[in-house]
Amino acid sequence: MKLVGADLSTTQFKEVANKMENESAQVILKWALDAYAPRIALASSFGAEDIVLIDMMTKIDIEKTKVFTLDTGRLNQETYNVIDEIRKKYNIQIESYFPAQAEVEEMVRIKGMNLMYDSVENRKLCCEIRKVHTLNRALSKLDGWITGLRKEQAITRASIKKIEVDSAHGNILKLNPLADWTNEMVWDYVHKNNIPYNKLHDMGYPSIGCEPCTRAIQPGEDPRAGRWWWESDTSYKECGLHWDPIKHSKSR
Ligand code: ADX
Ligand code: SF4
Repeated sequence: MKLVGADLSTTQFKEVANKMENESAQVILKWALDAYAPRIALASSFGAEDIVLIDMMTKIDIEKTKVFTLDTGRLNQETYNVIDEIRKKYNIQIESYFPAQAEVEEMVRIKGMNLMYDSVENRKLCCEIRKVHTLNRALSKLDGWITGLRKEQAITRASIKKIEVDSAHGNILKLNPLADWTNEMVWDYVHKNNIPYNKLHDMGYPSIGCEPCTRAIQPGEDPRAGRWWWESDTSYKECGLHWDPIKHSKSR
């Protein structure tokens, strides 16, 4: 599979990717920013992992640090608060991508504002329009993107690599520098580096998405139990941002 945007053969890419699997998040970020900026950006929902990556990237090279967020129009006020706090602390611009107006208008006219609770099909439609299509638009301008995905977050994420070719988005680079980090490592970094974080984390939300689809969890519950909590298929707590139909058809 040929990677776009890099002057690397498939074999060279595989060699780099294998070597990077054992490197730290900072080493991987530095390699990617040097090789790809300005055509690489962090996709940030401003969860704990993403703010760690923003701190690292700005320390490596603030000029090459590019961050975008998908504003579904249904985020919590606490999320908007942390976006502005991060913006000010690091003195960086955050690119907000909004869903296509016509698609949202048609969807809510036909299905209603709270369609996500009516069926899994409707919930996926809402994620598709508010998140997936918007991500596609953001990625169409890039040769690579960086995420805060970690293996231990979900069974659907257990086999992610730190460096991947994203076949769902035209074979661009996908970087998951925190793939092997634990939740404790993430929070340790946040506190040690005094990073402003989403206050919902203090209210029992380990994982934060849209307001209507995220709630606090009880101690001992799965960290993603608060996401789409009304759905019974707990093996698929994904909105489609990280769903590669080719890869996942082999693993599911
Ligand atoms: S989700 O697919 O279930 O919503 P999750 O909240 O675990 O994903 O976040 C995993 C990673 O996806 C984040 O670290 C971030 O890189 C990216 N991401 C998730 N939501 C957004 C968003 N709204 N805007 C930009 N990136 C996002
Ligand atoms: Fe819609 Fe909920 Fe998906 Fe957000 S998480 S896009 S509100 S269904």
